[in-house]
Amino acid sequence: MRSQGINKNFTEAKVDALAVVVFKDEKGTAGVLKDLNRLSGGMIASVIKDEGFKGGKGETALIRFKKTAKISASRILLVGAGDKKEYSVADVSVVAGTAARSLRDKSLSKFALDPRCGSAAAEVAAAAAEGAITSQFEIDKYKTKGKNDKEIKTFVLFIDGAKPADLRNGLSRGTAIGESMNFTRELANEPPNILTPTEIAKRAQKMAKEVGLKCQILTEAQMKKLGMNSLLSVSLGSEQPAKMIVLRYTPKKNTGKKGELLSFVGKGVMFDTGGISIKPSANMDAMKYDMSGGASVLGAMRAIGLLKPTIPVLGVVGCVENMPDGKASRPSDVVTAMNGKTIEILNTDAEGRLVLADAVAYAEKQGATKIVDLATLTGAVVVALGSHNTGIMGNDQALVDEIIETGKEVGEGFWQLPIGEEYSKEIKSDIADVKNMGSKGRAGTIAGGVFIQEFIDKAKWGHLDIAGTAWADGAKPNQSKGPTAVGVRTLVRMAEKG
Ligand code: BES
Ligand code: MN
Ligand code: ZN
Repeated sequence: MRSQGINKNFTEAKVDALAVVVFKDEKGTAGVLKDLNRLSGGMIASVIKDEGFKGGKGETALIRFKKTAKISASRILLVGAGDKKEYSVADVSVVAGTAARSLRDKSLSKFALDPRCGSAAAEVAAAAAEGAITSQFEIDKYKTKGKNDKEIKTFVLFIDGAKPADLRNGLSRGTAIGESMNFTRELANEPPNILTPTEIAKRAQKMAKEVGLKCQILTEAQMKKLGMNSLLSVSLGSEQPAKMIVLRYTPKKNTGKKGELLSFVGKGVMFDTGGISIKPSANMDAMKYDMSGGASVLGAMRAIGLLKPTIPVLGVVGCVENMPDGKASRPSDVVTAMNGKTIEILNTDAEGRLVLADAVAYAEKQGATKIVDLATLTGAVVVALGSHNTGIMGNDQALVDEIIETGKEVGEGFWQLPIGEEYSKEIKSDIADVKNMGSKGRAGTIAGGVFIQEFIDKAKWGHLDIAGTAWADGAKPNQSKGPTAVGVRTLVRMAEKG
C-alpha cells in the first residue's frame, strides 16, 4: 500500500472513493459532510435520515453517485465513529482500517480518508497508516485457491492545513508500525510444523538484518552452559531444539538515563500440547498461537529498528515446543533455573512460566533494568478478562501505570491484577524453592505472574498475560480474524517515549 498525505481539496482527490468519518447523531448538514452532501446530490443526508445510518462505531455505508466536474470520485464511504466527545487518535486507526477493509472488499484500490480528528497531524497520520495497513492482513497464506488477493494500492490521507512534513513523517511511522504488526501476525498464524524454534530464529535473523538490529541465537548447548534448565526442560520431549532469540537495538545518540536498559521478553512456545500433562484434543490446534508473545516482541523490535528511538532496547524470545515423549519432563521433576532457584514442575502444561523464568533472568543478566514480558500464559486470564483487555501485573506501580497509559494512547486495553506476598506463598514448593502452579481454579493468572517474579532480581518488571487478546475468534470491520499483534503498538511507543 502506498500512502500519501494531502492538506487541502479533499473532495477533489483522484480516487475511487472518498471515505469520511461520521459521528453519532450527525445529520450531514454541516462541515465536510455538508460539502459532500451537496456534491452527491443530497445522498449523505438521505442515507442518514432514510436508511438509518447512525454513525456508530464500525458502521459503514457506501454511496454511489454520478461523477461531476467538482468531484472525481464516484463513491463516498461513510464510516461511523461513535461519540464525537470520545473520539481520539486511537480511533483513527480503527476508522482507517474499517474504510480500507470495506473498500478493498468492494474491489476498489484507491481511496482518500478525512478522519476528522483534531489531534497533532503526525499522530493522526501514523494511526491512519497503521490502521489501513493492518486492515489488509489475511490468514489465508496457505490457500492455493480462493485467496483474498484484492488490495488497497493507494491510501490518501487528508488533514486540513497539516504541514506536509508532519503528514509524511506520520505516514511513514505508521507504515513501519503497521507492517511490523503484520509481521507479528504472520508469525503467529504460521502452523507449528513450519514455524519451528529453528525457523522463527531464522526469520528473526533475517528481519534483524533488514532493519539494522543485532541478532544472536542461543543454541541448546549455550543455554545449558548458562544454566537455563527451566527453559530447556520444556523442550525435552521435542525433536525440535530450543532456541533463544536475542535482539539488540542501540541508538546513535542515547538520551536515556545512564545504565538503563528497556527489555521486552516473549514466550515463544511454538506449540503447546501440554506435554505429559497433556491437553484435551478439542481446540488443541489453537495452541499454535502460544508463541504470540514472542511474535509481538519480534514485531516491536522490527518497528524499533526502523523508527530508531533514542534509548537502547533488548528483545529476548525463548522458543521451544512442548511435546509429550519418553524424554519429556514429568510432573514432580525438579529443575534449577539460571538464577539458581529450584522449581518443582507439578504440571508440564504450565510451561510458559518455565520458559520465561530463564528468559527474564537472561535479560536482566544482559543489563535490563526495565523488563516487560508478554505471554499467552493462562486460560484463567481468558475467564477473567475475555478478549478486550490484557492482564497486567508488575513489581513497580509506576511501570504498570506507564504501560496502561501508553496502551490507552494507542488503543490497547490493559487491566491490572494484584500480586503480593500472600500470592507468592501459594507457589512455595514442599521440596524445592517454588512450584510451577498454585491451587487449581484459584487466581491462576496471578500464580503465573508471581512465578515469573521469582526470576527477576532488581529490575522493574511488568507482565502481560495476552492469552485472551492475542487471537481474535472473529473478524472485525477493521481486522481479519486471527492473530492481533497485541502489545506491539504499546511496546513501540514505550521505546519512543524513552
Ligand atoms: N498456553 C497455555 C495458556 C492458554 C490456555 C492460553 C488456554 C489460551 C487458552 C498455557 O501454557 C497453559 O497451558 N496454562 C495452564 C496453566 C495451568 C496448568 C497452571 C492453564 O492456564 O490451564
Ligand atoms: Mn501450557
Ligand atoms: Zn502454553
